Amino acid sequence: MLEIEGKLQAELARGIEALQTVANAESLEAWKQEFLGKKSLVMQVYGSMGKLAKEERPIIGKAVNQAKAGLEAALAEKEEGIKAASQQEAFTKETLDVTLPGRKPRRGRIHPLHLTLRQIYRIFGDMGFQIYRSPEVETDDYNFTFLNMPPYHPARDMWDTFYTDKEGVVLRTHTSPGQVRVMRERAPENIRVILPGTTMRYEQLTARSEIEFIQVELLVVGKGITFADMRGTLNDFARRTFGENARTRLRPSFFPFTEPSAEMDVECFVCGGEGCGVCKGTGWLEILGCGMVHPTVLRYGGYDPEVYSGFAAGMGIDRSTLMRYHIDDIRHFRNNDIRFLEQF
Ligand code: PHE
Repeated sequence: MLEIEGKLQAELARGIEALQTVANAESLEAWKQEFLGKKSLVMQVYGSMGKLAKEERPIIGKAVNQAKAGLEAALAEKEEGIKAASQQEAFTKETLDVTLPGRKPRRGRIHPLHLTLRQIYRIFGDMGFQIYRSPEVETDDYNFTFLNMPPYHPARDMWDTFYTDKEGVVLRTHTSPGQVRVMRERAPENIRVILPGTTMRYEQLTARSEIEFIQVELLVVGKGITFADMRGTLNDFARRTFGENARTRLRPSFFPFTEPSAEMDVECFVCGGEGCGVCKGTGWLEILGCGMVHPTVLRYGGYDPEVYSGFAAGMGIDRSTLMRYHIDDIRHFRNNDIRFLEQF
């Protein structure tokens, strides 16, 4: 064996061994220079082939080819390894942590006024009433005249309202204008509806009154509807709202659009009729106004008062909601304070 053959074999072994400690792209480059670069033993042997004796040439040629092929195979394997390792490192370093918990959306609640409304809808729904919507911005005619309050009639003073820029257009002060709207749409059919919605009055803002509040109107029209029907319906409503034993009473009252008119009280559900701060010592809470629909109103609605009769009622729900949840200030309802709303 020629001396150079031994050297090439040793070079191959040394190269393979040196490759073991190579761990990154830079040291790999240095290794390439050392074992396969211009000054490497392998390349020097190639360069000196011309000077070799004829019979040595195939032997040394074979040996150098073997050494070079061996080094290159080892290099290729190493390159693969380094690539895989750096990829692995990128995978662990750069991955998205998909387990990050998401942000919890804030869950809304049903506003306390709407809790009350839903309860009212359910009770009257069971009694066969439909819900009818009518406009919050009304004409003077619907808000007053058709309800038996002609222009300049002093009864209008009971409902101090907001006027708009447009003549004859006001913000409705009660849901009663809806009575005439339903009648005009339905006449001469029987009517059994409730009309819920926002109403507005020009009032001072206090803990007990707001310029904006919600009313629910009741209207029943048909042949032979009596005051007793009204009383029965309202009592049923009161019992289902305030409890089976809730006592009620009707007091005579006045509204231009009903005749006779009354106001209904329910026994104070805070003190049970004993008298407390909520009922101002009377033992009773006023919950609604009501009465038999006035003939003039029936006529404006397209019904002949000689043939048809009906009853109507109107209740504000803000105050009863205050009492129901022991809320100390009516202004909380429309302040948009989430700390208040979260309690329901
Ligand atoms: N609209 C009246 C009010 O707001 C209440 C009412 C409605 C009275 C229907 C009688 C009949 O005060």
